[in-house]
Amino acid sequence: MRIVLVGPPGAGKGTQAHLLAKSLGIPHVSTGDLFRANISQGTPLGVQAKSFMDAGKLVPDEVTIGMAKDRIAQDDCAGGFLLDGFPRNLVQAEALDGILKEWGVALDAVLDLEVPEDEIVKRIAGRRLCRRNGAHVFHVDYNPPKTEGVCDECGGELYQRSDDTEEAVRVRLDVYHNETEPIIAYYGEQGLVSTISALGPVEEVTQRLLAALGRA
Ligand code: AP5
Ligand code: MG
Repeated sequence: MRIVLVGPPGAGKGTQAHLLAKSLGIPHVSTGDLFRANISQGTPLGVQAKSFMDAGKLVPDEVTIGMAKDRIAQDDCAGGFLLDGFPRNLVQAEALDGILKEWGVALDAVLDLEVPEDEIVKRIAGRRLCRRNGAHVFHVDYNPPKTEGVCDECGGELYQRSDDTEEAVRVRLDVYHNETEPIIAYYGEQGLVSTISALGPVEEVTQRLLAALGRA
């Protein structure tokens, strides 16, 4: 299956994508995680992306589209993939359609995670991420690691993201409403969108997403 997961910052895209990808047997492709891996390795792409990310703004399309295309062109994505955080505006959505058309394939579903803004603020404030694998996500209250500061899955060190400041989160929310939400209507016209509440326990949200894909 080829799936796009969309939703505001802190909705639980990374958390759900990690679980869904495992359950569906397809790779989880997060452009945010790819940028953060480049930043931690000090690559030119990471240097280019860092200032945009820290400010909460989108990294320019030409950089992002190229990086996403390279990733989904890899062998492990041949049978499908779960995109988390890409596309994030209409230019990226049209570019993705063009790439898939060129390859003779198409998206199967767009899953739209919905969550109220006060919950977003709480989720982002308590989030902790694993330095070894950005898909390992915790929360100090809602999903605490067994040992403080240590990833349950791989023993990596947990840290707070540099764009999880109050100011950057405000910008990320504005960017989401102005630039990302229009892609929901765009995919809606193609009959691909299922809107799912991201409220409630993580496992319940996963079940709702699997049900929307007809896999529950
Ligand atoms: P990205 O990394 O994609 O960040 P985001 O969209 O702001 O989303 P988050 O990762 O903050 O939230 P999430 O929905 O994944 O939530 P999570 O599962 O962690 O992008 C970062 C930046 O990179 C962008 O601002 C931009 O600069 C750049 N970028 C990335 N893609 C780009 C693109 N395509 N174009 C241009 N620029 C791009 O969960 C949050 C917290 O809530 C966690 O602590 C978790 O444990 C907790 N939680 C999850 N589910 C639940 C639940 N059901 N109940 C209680 N707590 C929960
Ligand atoms: Mg994420």
